[in-house]
Amino acid sequence: MRPLLLKGHERSLTQVKYNREGDLIFTVAKDKEASVWYSFNGERLGTFSGHGGTIWSIDVDQKSELLLTGSADFSVKLWNVSNGENVFTWSCVSPVRRVEFNPSNDKFLAVMDAVMGHKGDISVFNINKETPTKQDEEPILVIPTYEGLERVSVAGFSYLGKYIIAGHQDGTVSKYDAKTGEFINSVKVHEGLVTDLQFSEDRTYFITSSKDKSSKILDVDNLNILKKFESDSPLNSAAITPLKNFVVLGGGQEARDVTTTAANQGKFEARFYHKIFEDEIGRVKGHFGPLNYIAIHPKGTGYASGGEDGYVRVHNFDKSYFDFKYDVEITAEAAAASKENNQD
Ligand SMILES: *[C@@H]1O[C@H](CO)[C@@H](O)[C@H](O)[C@H]1NC(C)=O
Repeated sequence: MRPLLLKGHERSLTQVKYNREGDLIFTVAKDKEASVWYSFNGERLGTFSGHGGTIWSIDVDQKSELLLTGSADFSVKLWNVSNGENVFTWSCVSPVRRVEFNPSNDKFLAVMDAVMGHKGDISVFNINKETPTKQDEEPILVIPTYEGLERVSVAGFSYLGKYIIAGHQDGTVSKYDAKTGEFINSVKVHEGLVTDLQFSEDRTYFITSSKDKSSKILDVDNLNILKKFESDSPLNSAAITPLKNFVVLGGGQEARDVTTTAANQGKFEARFYHKIFEDEIGRVKGHFGPLNYIAIHPKGTGYASGGEDGYVRVHNFDKSYFDFKYDVEITAEAAAASKENNQD
């Protein structure tokens, strides 16, 4: 499994996304340009220039026509993927931490950071797909940070765009009606900042990652914790593979938090866990700093990681990987069976 190394960003990666087909990878970083690359050979197709600060988040629509970026420059920008043009800019009240289209791509949400007296919120905007240069500047819905909870760090839409699920700085996950913004419930899931929240393919459940070194899978309908994965370093990202029962976690201790670089070695790896049995089954090395984001190919045939080191590493799984996964499943099932037998 020889990775492709995408070099082009000058600073730490913040988010990495495949398009629906998986042939393109969109990346954003602490520099001010978004990039698009071919996933099969790592060639850069183009850049999207116009932001005045760190771009925290990116999302592409189902048809790979329109692209959204959310930035520390207090704006969300809409881009034409095919020619790289910035077709619209929404001015926002604070830095934008996350952007995501709803499943039907006629709306998007933007997570507004809490700064300078603004408590932070989730704003939902309409998208005019017919004439992308003409958009309503005002959000159709603003969900303020719920009373008693700390700021929202990440958010996304559930199946059918029915709910908005949010992760908070205090480790809470909360749920809202996506049409009315009504608060439905919240659960304390982590002991620290929720750093990522990615949905399963059908968006009926999702995975979180946290600075508390753990990752959890929750179901959308009840916010029950279904699975948990323990790591030995703070986590920045977690993703679910669609093809087999795996999750991939990424993170690592930042250099300023540790005394020696030797202590860091081996910490900057993508961690594979079995989704059902919750045990760690493999690691993939490569980055020279924490992994800030993990994206899985929509068909489950590979993944891309964005690093603090400024690189994106794209892994297209080869046949031995799939054989390996098969073996591991068999082994894990055998282990579970023998455990049961021992209890008898
Ligand atoms: C993007 O630009 C191309 C070429 O200029 C144009 O044909 C296409 O309609 C634009 N797409 C959108 C979604 O505006």
